Amino acid sequence: MRKPLVAGNWKMNGSRESVSALIDGLTTGLTQFAKDGLVNDIEVAVFPSAVFVQQVENALSSTNVAWGLQNICTAESGAYTGEASVAMAKDFGCKLVLVGHSERRAIYGETDADVATKVERAGLAGLVPVLCVGESLEERQEGRTDEVVARQIKAVLKNSAPESLTELVIAYEPVWAIGTGLTATPEQAQEAHAAIRGLLAEHDADMAARTRILYGGSVKGSNAAEIFAGADVDGGLVGGASLDVQDFLTICRAAG
Ligand code: PGA
Repeated sequence: MRKPLVAGNWKMNGSRESVSALIDGLTTGLTQFAKDGLVNDIEVAVFPSAVFVQQVENALSSTNVAWGLQNICTAESGAYTGEASVAMAKDFGCKLVLVGHSERRAIYGETDADVATKVERAGLAGLVPVLCVGESLEERQEGRTDEVVARQIKAVLKNSAPESLTELVIAYEPVWAIGTGLTATPEQAQEAHAAIRGLLAEHDADMAARTRILYGGSVKGSNAAEIFAGADVDGGLVGGASLDVQDFLTICRAAG
């Protein structure tokens, strides 16, 4: 059985004060859910900006909520101004790391090869890589969704050591749905997720069965339950709505 995962990608948002309030609200809400028996066994994680990771570690280390970086460097250490390494992520208690988010690919020119290197580095270090994939609007309109997503995933399957992929999580995030308020329909999401699982099965049946595939792209409290109902949808990667405690808690409930 795959344990659902709901992860909040805070992107470049927040202040010491808002991060503190967000974490307080989140942990209080999740504790209450547990007391009331409202949420089954799910995993919850947050991806703060790297500058808040120490603060998040302090606040979450005695809870069940995990945390991670939004990106890591392809290199191990050294003269890479502005970057953070896998070892640094581990040093600050990160359990997961986002890799290949569409904003990294589109704004910072990350290639499939960079993404494969990062997944491998993270996986070998014992971090859970959350590999983000997804098609642009143009690619969807041209009927190329499966092809684009397959290319992005195959680049990782071919170029990352198999031992680095044992805990891999994939986030299917159609680019046209990220931050736009447009969401894939539950049918579109399930269809894409099933195609991804099929692709993984061609590679390794065990991997296909165990790999969690999250949906991302304008997930909100109001649409989470219907999206998560898909047989191959194992939770969500949530941007905007993860900054709103109540909305994020509603999404967590929908996954449990
Ligand atoms: P969104 O972002 O929920 O704001 O669309 C999702 C993401 O970028 O991971």
